[in-house]
This record gives sequence, structure tokens and C-alpha cells, in this order.
Amino acid sequence: MSALSELCQEIRTCQRCQVLAKNRTKVVPGSGMEHADIMFIGEAPGWHEDQQGLPFVGPAGLFLNELISSIGLHRDQVYITNVVKCRPPENRDPLPVEIQTCRNWLDGQIELIRPRMIVTLGRYSMAMFFPGKSIGKIHGTALKQDNIIYYAMYHPAAALHQQSLRQTIQADMLKIPSFLAQAETVSEASKQPEQLSMFEVHNLE
Ligand code: URA
Repeated sequence: MSALSELCQEIRTCQRCQVLAKNRTKVVPGSGMEHADIMFIGEAPGWHEDQQGLPFVGPAGLFLNELISSIGLHRDQVYITNVVKCRPPENRDPLPVEIQTCRNWLDGQIELIRPRMIVTLGRYSMAMFFPGKSIGKIHGTALKQDNIIYYAMYHPAAALHQQSLRQTIQADMLKIPSFLAQAETVSEASKQPEQLSMFEVHNLE
């Protein structure tokens, strides 16, 4: 068994949050490719995800699948997970303490997958990597830190509630391949500073 599968197995038995552990049907560790270039991080499992033990398999997931296809990939070629691995009761927002408690599972996944790009979906995962920023301002922008590109997008569910965001989300997704290609050029061209122009480079903490 791979280290990532072992980690996901461990996540499935987690009892750290009493309320979440008691109310969940299945834990949703994440799914996709072991060493994916792109890792998508959403908020928390909803009803469908809790039933199936898989991330983004409800209506928001269908839209996410479409978005991933729009850049020529299938969801099995990326890695998809959430900030919190268990469904909060009644789909309430995850509590800060739950996000904090679940954080080292996510950190462990990032360490094993070693993605080139982390795409945050919605405000909870955005807050983790872009503290203090607002989604309205930074969606569609990337920053590079320690060889990982962090990229913020609206949550795909936002398009289900607010039709006007659909095109914005689609356009932001279409920018991903050029950010990845740009990062490649930068590392190959011995870090010429002007080639970092697409990225905002600043500290994450
Ligand atoms: N919304 C999320 O943030 N994650 C899921 O897995 C499903 C819906």
C-alpha cells in the first residue's frame, strides 16, 4: 500500500472531532492521482460525499468535473480533497477548531503528493493559504512559494447559487495550464526574474 493510501486509511478512522465522528456516515479523505500536479482543496464533504466517502460527487462535483475536463484533464489525473474530511451536521460551516484539528491530515497529503499547484476552492481553503485576502480580489491570481503555485478560485457551488459566477469560474480554471507552463519555463530558464511576472510573489504566513 502506498504511503498516501496508508494516510487515507488512517484518516478514515479519525476520532479527533467528537461531533463530526459521531454524525458522519463515511470519512472523505480525498481521491485522485498519487503524485498529481494539481491538488484541488474544497471546504468539507456534503451529503453525497458523506454517503459515498468520495469528495465532490454531488452537484458541485459535477461542475468541478466539467471544469477539470475544460483543461484537458480527468478528475483521476488530479487530486481532490477538502479542508475538513467529515461532513459537518446539517452542512453547517466547519468550525475553526475542526479546521485546525483536521489540518495535519491535509498537510500530510500535500507532503506525500507534492503537487506543483494547489487550487483553493472557496473561502475556507483560501483562508488557509492566503490569510487575510478576499476571494473577490484574488480569484484567478497565483502566488508561488517554495516551488508550489497557490491559486485561488471561487467554490464551484457558488456557480450553482449565483449564475453570474459561472463564467468567472470557467475563465479562472482555463488560466491554470498557463500558470503551470509559466512555472516550468521559470525553473528551466534559470529563474530569470522577469519571467515571474505572472505571479504575485510574497510570503504566505
Ligand atoms: N463541497 C466541498 O467543499 N467539498 C465537497 O467534497 C463537496 C462539496
